[in-house]
Amino acid sequence: MSEHTQATSPILAVPQLDLAAQYAAIGEEIRAAIAKVLASQQFILGREGAALETELASLCGAAHGIGVASGTDALILALRACGVCAGDEVIIPPFTFVATASAVNAIGAKPVFADIRPDSYNIDPSDLQRRVTRKTKAIIAVHLYGLSADMDPILEFARGHDLRVIEDNAQSLGATYKGRHTGSMSDAACISFYPTKNLGGYGDGGMIVTNSSERAARLRMLRNHGQSARYVSSEAGWNSRLDEIQAAILRVKLRYLPEWQRARQVHAAAYSKLLLGVPGIAPPLVPENYGHAFHQYTIRVEQRDALQQFLNERNIGSAVYYPVPLHLQPLYSSLGHKVGDFPHAEHAAKEVISLPMYPELHSEHITRVAEAAIEFVTK
Ligand SMILES: Cc1ncc(COP(=O)(O)O)c(C=O)c1O
Repeated sequence: MSEHTQATSPILAVPQLDLAAQYAAIGEEIRAAIAKVLASQQFILGREGAALETELASLCGAAHGIGVASGTDALILALRACGVCAGDEVIIPPFTFVATASAVNAIGAKPVFADIRPDSYNIDPSDLQRRVTRKTKAIIAVHLYGLSADMDPILEFARGHDLRVIEDNAQSLGATYKGRHTGSMSDAACISFYPTKNLGGYGDGGMIVTNSSERAARLRMLRNHGQSARYVSSEAGWNSRLDEIQAAILRVKLRYLPEWQRARQVHAAAYSKLLLGVPGIAPPLVPENYGHAFHQYTIRVEQRDALQQFLNERNIGSAVYYPVPLHLQPLYSSLGHKVGDFPHAEHAAKEVISLPMYPELHSEHITRVAEAAIEFVTK
């Protein structure tokens, strides 16, 4: 192969995510699903949304699904439906997307951080006792990167302190924990359909799943102006509805989710086979009895920024989720935290890097990415 062919061969450039490859495979079905909604002229709270709610609740092993406008709205509404009010405290990890915390702020409550475990990147149940106060009302357990948080001790702690538990399942649809699905273990669980998620829409969207009929009924009111009947509002809600076009698109994609999920797991296993035992690289942990959804394949490397540049120079995409832990964000300067307060979150923020991961990835890509990472740490 000539040098020129090598430099321009698409197989050699590896994006971190390639949504176009997925659209190329299922575009026809997506366009047909959209056309069906257009023909029906029913755009809000119709059959597609209702069917998606049933299908996703069943996927998560929960009784009810309530479609909303985004994952962030799902968190805000779930907090409200769990009785969290202004002035209450909610314990969350500082190593997550800002939406987990800003949802708490949105209802006038206060996010209180508990550090993460360095190996799973999820909230450390043994740090909860230090953070709980008389004002604590709930814990949000984030399942980061596709891996469930260690739910049993979190749920036990919550029971002992009469706290509600909300799962932030934005990144981990399809993951399991000791035989249970993420989304089925708490008072309410929140899903995001942001386009890059494992089940991503073609715009914003989200859902709450819950086993409580009472909470589900309240959530249906809250997402629709607090209306208990048409034009009768029982409490202040607002407009946060998942539209029919998004629901129809997501229903097409949902049929492929198990296949995509398996592909992600095969890719992750291929990466780990190459990277496990390489000094200087820590591949993701998959604890026994956990099913990882591999939204991201995230490794840990001391010289993370230099590795990212090294990969970039070789046309290999990567991403850092998240470079600044929440307690050190300008948004939370008023909470008075300083460097050193949550050492595991800070350390992770400096060292994590997510390698290319999507179902359509080729095994040649994986070998190329892993070999580049190994070259970097051994040079
Ligand atoms: C962990 C986490 N929580 C919440 C959200 C918010 O979801 P959305 O972007 O749909 O509002 C996201 C994704 O963006 C996320 O990754």
